[in-house]
Amino acid sequence: MRVLGIESSCDETGIALYEMGRGIVSDHVYSQADFFAAYGGVVPELASRDHIRRVLPLLNRVLHEAQIKLSDCDAIAYTQGPGLAGALLVGASIAVSLSMACDKPLIPIHHLEGHLLSPLLPPLLPMLSNSVSESTPLRDFAFPYLALMVSGGHSQLVVVHELGQYEIIGDTIDDAAGEAFDKSAQLLGIPYPGGAELSRVAQSGVSGRFNLPRPLFHSDNLDFSFSGLKTAVLNLVNKQSPLSEQDKADIAHAFVESIVSVLVHKTVRAIERTGLQRCAVVGGVSANTQLRKSLSKNLPKVNCIYPDLRYCSDNGAMIALAGALRAKAGLIPKGGDYAIKIKPRWAIDAL
Ligand code: KG4
Ligand code: ZN
Repeated sequence: MRVLGIESSCDETGIALYEMGRGIVSDHVYSQADFFAAYGGVVPELASRDHIRRVLPLLNRVLHEAQIKLSDCDAIAYTQGPGLAGALLVGASIAVSLSMACDKPLIPIHHLEGHLLSPLLPPLLPMLSNSVSESTPLRDFAFPYLALMVSGGHSQLVVVHELGQYEIIGDTIDDAAGEAFDKSAQLLGIPYPGGAELSRVAQSGVSGRFNLPRPLFHSDNLDFSFSGLKTAVLNLVNKQSPLSEQDKADIAHAFVESIVSVLVHKTVRAIERTGLQRCAVVGGVSANTQLRKSLSKNLPKVNCIYPDLRYCSDNGAMIALAGALRAKAGLIPKGGDYAIKIKPRWAIDAL
């Protein structure tokens, strides 16, 4: 079975093909991040227009690389939500049109389900590899597991009971982790989206020169709040003005230490409370080296898994995988409904 995955919920257009017995055969993402650096963030209308420009050329590239025709796909999975309405409409319109034209089932996917399943994705197959196995190729990891979902829009602790059954046990009260990274980066003069670059700069910073708050560290719940952290970075930046390169690195270092310690502390607490033996970190911030190192160190007896780096940020592969697993489990809607439906606001525990 071959499932095409289409992702367009924010500022990445992603198309990929997952084949049962083989894995991800082809996966391409076009990121608009560089384009939005000039604006300091995503402009929804411009994002939608860019998805329109990118989606069909990307689709052709994936089909060409996989050496198949559209009619060789067995199902079309697409991100139905949550996300920017205009951006979602592009992926949904393309998916519905392809499904109608080829008479193949349509599988609407929750974007966060894609992230939650992304650690299961095997590495991208070498181009033109013909190796086939009988089983569904997935990384060695099993339900149930705890997921720390940290992206530009979410900081959540989710119990992944099984495919389609997700329970939120910790959530963000204000800014998401990625948002805190990006806003703090901006205060340090690092262009959007600055999370990865801020973390790189932090590596040459000195520990202990600055101390930043660790919001909700001592609270008894599993929730997060990072807007105060950003304000503390702003105050430090104002005090140190003009900022030297070393000031920048030291502030970035303190920021990463603070946010990573909160994320890790709450995740360890969630593992203790749930008794789960497996833990995954997903979403854009899961690419963070300091977070990966600290979590594995603090959970020595837990099987910690991180997505392959290419699957941390938004991509079509995780949507194709979610579609394939849903198809295999018989969890797809009845066919014949070609209305273009999106869900810009959609809770993961409402699936
Ligand atoms: O999952 P994602 O690609 O998009 C959303 O669905 O939001 O996450 C993007 C976020 C951005 O805030 C970006 O700065 C952050 O992930 N990010 C990182 C790193 N790489 C990406 N944050 C910290 N360290 C990184 N290495
Ligand atoms: Zn995402």
